Amino acid sequence: MTIRSFILCFIIYHFINKCEQCSNEYPFQVHLGTRTPYRSVSNISFDKIYYNGCVSTKIWMIVRHGTRNPSVTNIEDMKNKLPKIQQLILENENLPNDNIKNRDLDLFRKWRTRLDIDDETKLTHEGEEEMLLLAERMQNRFPDIFNEVYSNTTYKFRYTYSQRTKKSALYFAAGLFGKHTAKEVWFPEPLKKDPILRFYKLCDKWRQEIKAKEKDTGQYKKFAAGFEMTDVIRNVNKRLGLQDEIDLGDIYVMYITCGFETAWNKQSKSPWCSVFSEEDFKVLEYMEDLKYYWVDGYGHELTYQQACPAFGDMISHLDISNQYPKATIYFTHSGTLLKMLAHMGLYKDQEALRSTNYNKMTNRKWRTSLIDAFGTNLAFVLFNCNGNQEILTLHQENIVRLPPCPDSDLCDYNKILDYYSHSLKKCDFTAMCNKTDD
Ligand SMILES: *[C@@H]1O[C@H](CO)[C@@H](O)[C@H](O)[C@H]1NC(C)=O
Ligand SMILES: *[C@@H]1O[C@H](CO)[C@@H](O)[C@H](O)[C@H]1NC(C)=O
Ligand SMILES: *[C@@H]1O[C@H](CO)[C@@H](O)[C@H](O)[C@H]1NC(C)=O
Repeated sequence: MTIRSFILCFIIYHFINKCEQCSNEYPFQVHLGTRTPYRSVSNISFDKIYYNGCVSTKIWMIVRHGTRNPSVTNIEDMKNKLPKIQQLILENENLPNDNIKNRDLDLFRKWRTRLDIDDETKLTHEGEEEMLLLAERMQNRFPDIFNEVYSNTTYKFRYTYSQRTKKSALYFAAGLFGKHTAKEVWFPEPLKKDPILRFYKLCDKWRQEIKAKEKDTGQYKKFAAGFEMTDVIRNVNKRLGLQDEIDLGDIYVMYITCGFETAWNKQSKSPWCSVFSEEDFKVLEYMEDLKYYWVDGYGHELTYQQACPAFGDMISHLDISNQYPKATIYFTHSGTLLKMLAHMGLYKDQEALRSTNYNKMTNRKWRTSLIDAFGTNLAFVLFNCNGNQEILTLHQENIVRLPPCPDSDLCDYNKILDYYSHSLKKCDFTAMCNKTDD
């Protein structure tokens, strides 16, 4: 290689590198709520995680399925509302303008919904890749755990009763063992109401007294009717050169479509993202965060208390007296991941999220875009450190510290038992979820 071509390579390499980091063009990528693609939050390091004097021995992990298609309701909304808005935009003489550029209009011109009702909630290509790569990185980080050939006593996989978690499990297994061996992996029959993977389906009290109520009259509804959202509606109409043809329902469908299309396609930009400013995205994101805070998070004690069967499963899996399985990996849903995070006391803000404190909560920890993206995962890894049992916690493949161990990555197994003893000793799921008992 000549000096000149070397320098050229160097410049090109630098330029490409820089542009991967310049997410400025797509600032919305981290404000998409639960539709955020995993690549926006993951840790792409393949390095082995190593502590002096310690050997990793076991892992317990829960994984939200990868990027999926929208629900039936969302697909219908997209099909019903978006073509009309698309037409309004394309026929609008005020466009292009400073916000909606010619290249955005080109994207609008080419846009159409490619989804059928039959595609609802299915895992997408991006979701397959998310699982494959996640498994490969985890294997590289913990070679002492994932070194064994496949056997169903060493590896325990389970998924919920859904195509997206089943497919997620298959692609994760392919990442660990290769596509060929993955076909031989044994999975138990999924349960419609799995007491560990989707405990909340069995909790009548939570379903009726919390979930249903929050969906009808919760904080996020109040926020949706508040002045911040009114501003978003006004701004979007103005940006599109419209009077007030676009209403809240339209705004929401455009927002989720921007989210889904961003998650599905790494390369191309969804035209529906271009109608929002960064501030609009932040307001829409807060509405999502409010919803999940009150339905799946810290809003009500029962919501996270009922995660004790899953927590207990983790503790007993990592108990030193059980040598096998070495890896327990569950494929489940957002509702389980969020309740588990709250059960552990992670991402807890001093103050509750409310419809009235949007500004004050700007730097909140509870941000679904970061903590509940597609493919979100929470892993507990057991290390044997000269005979002491220590647990390392990873969320989105990044090390997080548990409340009992704020000063160290590794947390003594017995310290965890002690700190969460209430969860372990008082896990009477039937009693806490008994709806007649108040
Ligand atoms: C990714 O994980 C490694 C440990 O494997 C850590 O050193 C690094 O800081 C993490 N990267 C980010 C961006 O958090
Ligand atoms: C292993 O797979 C067989 C079916 O091939 C099943 O009957 C058995 O319960 C599995 N064992 C474990 C530990 O999951
Ligand atoms: C639920 O609560 C009622 C009244 O407190 C009690 O009679 C019933 O046995 C409880 N059911 C279960 C399954 O615990």
